[in-house]
Amino acid sequence: PRYWAVVPAAGIGTRMGSDVPKQYLLLNNRPVIEHALQALLKHPKIVKVIVAIADSDHWWANTSASRHSRVQRVLGGTERADSVLNGLLSLQGDADADDWVLVHDAARPCLHRTDLENLIETLRHHAVGGLLGYPLSDTIKRVNDQASVLETLPREQLWRAFTPQMFRYGALQAALECARSSALQVTDEASAIELAGLIPQLVEGRSDNIKITRPEDLELAHFYLNQHSR
Ligand code: CTP
Ligand code: MG
Repeated sequence: PRYWAVVPAAGIGTRMGSDVPKQYLLLNNRPVIEHALQALLKHPKIVKVIVAIADSDHWWANTSASRHSRVQRVLGGTERADSVLNGLLSLQGDADADDWVLVHDAARPCLHRTDLENLIETLRHHAVGGLLGYPLSDTIKRVNDQASVLETLPREQLWRAFTPQMFRYGALQAALECARSSALQVTDEASAIELAGLIPQLVEGRSDNIKITRPEDLELAHFYLNQHSR
């Protein structure tokens, strides 16, 4: 099987609240998305990287990644899952059902090459696939609308779900289409796979593979990036 990558980059970053979508904010003078693409583009096994870009986007065309020979652009969708599905649909005819697709957030710039390598090596012979993640360190409370605590969840069983998430092309497309047609909310690929009755494997990665979501995350990512020599 071959390896393909899909990078959803069509969000508007509501929680970040910046004028420019967060994937285009600068980290060490390069847009966040170029950092996010770096490990994928450096990996020799990944044939092509499909990037899902919003219709209204003014920034993508100015990135150097947009001119990379292994990068291809598709139109993003309303939800993250729609953007990913558009990316998968653009691979139809090229990708086989049992090829691997790695989906990685454009807003996750600190992916280390060793994590990418470890994910691929660990799941290479897996039937379903899986995702990078990290065990939670905080105790987690389930609350109601007024933030009254309803229950405490057992922390030993809780992990943060990161990207890349790596699944078989055919199964992932079917799972995302199924979730869409039944109007089920999926915030990552693994949840669509789970709803399809399959069991993703979690692969423990580095805790610094954070997603830029709020302003403070940008500073943290800056710190992490300058810590590792990637
Ligand atoms: N994304 C996308 N298409 C959408 C929504 C999100 O491709 N319709 C992408 C984002 O660009 C980001 C990734 O999915 O790279 C993770 O989503 P998230 O962190 O939620 O980003 P935003 O949706 O942009 O942020 P917010 O939810 O705060 O608006
Ligand atoms: Mg979002």
